[in-house]
Amino acid sequence: MNARKSSNTTWHDVTVRRHDRAKLNNHRSFLLWFTGLSGSGKSTLIHGVEEELHKRGMHTYALDGDNVRHGLCGDLGFSDQDRVENIRRIGEVSKLMVDAGIITLAAFISPFASDRLKVRNLLEPGDFIEIYCNSSLEKCEERDVKGLYKKARMGEIREFTGISSPYEIPTDPELTLDTGTKTAEECVTQIITMIETRLALREWEIKK
Ligand code: ADX
Repeated sequence: MNARKSSNTTWHDVTVRRHDRAKLNNHRSFLLWFTGLSGSGKSTLIHGVEEELHKRGMHTYALDGDNVRHGLCGDLGFSDQDRVENIRRIGEVSKLMVDAGIITLAAFISPFASDRLKVRNLLEPGDFIEIYCNSSLEKCEERDVKGLYKKARMGEIREFTGISSPYEIPTDPELTLDTGTKTAEECVTQIITMIETRLALREWEIKK
């Protein structure tokens, strides 16, 4: 969906700004974007990281591919075109959430580099943190938690990522996690360390 059909609309300037919300929350907001094959651990990690941030008193929200496809994106399938639209909508929702002062965690296969780049460009510099959940197709298929790889191999699911639909590996993510070999706990620790480092670096922005 490229053309904007909502004409005759006026943008209203806000009086409570993102920076005011960050001050109130006592932390900045940003988007943690988890990408990787189905079964690479994205969902487990967003919830694990969210729990840790929540314990630290931070405002968070997790957007999960499977869940979002039950509602907001329930009308979309898995053709290339539908995946592009899926990520476009999630990108826009994530942008609103980040603006609302929430640390947003998104877990979507998001197989196309161009779509991930579009989301990155929607946000302010430094606010899009791409986390590549690196687990080989063999490993994901071996685990096959949802039994979908088996179905895809039998031809019961068409356009399945990694089998009959492409996945473009991120070339320059902020973080790569070896989810195929490391435990979820190890990966959560790695992400929390990265977040704490980033928050410390940008502390002056909160206090402005
Ligand atoms: S994306 O490609 O548009 O980013 P998304 O993350 O929303 O995908 O949804 C992926 C989830 O949908 C998978 O984890 C899996 O449970 C389910 N799924 C169902 N059909 C497919 C398919 N053809 N390809 C990939 N995932 C599928």
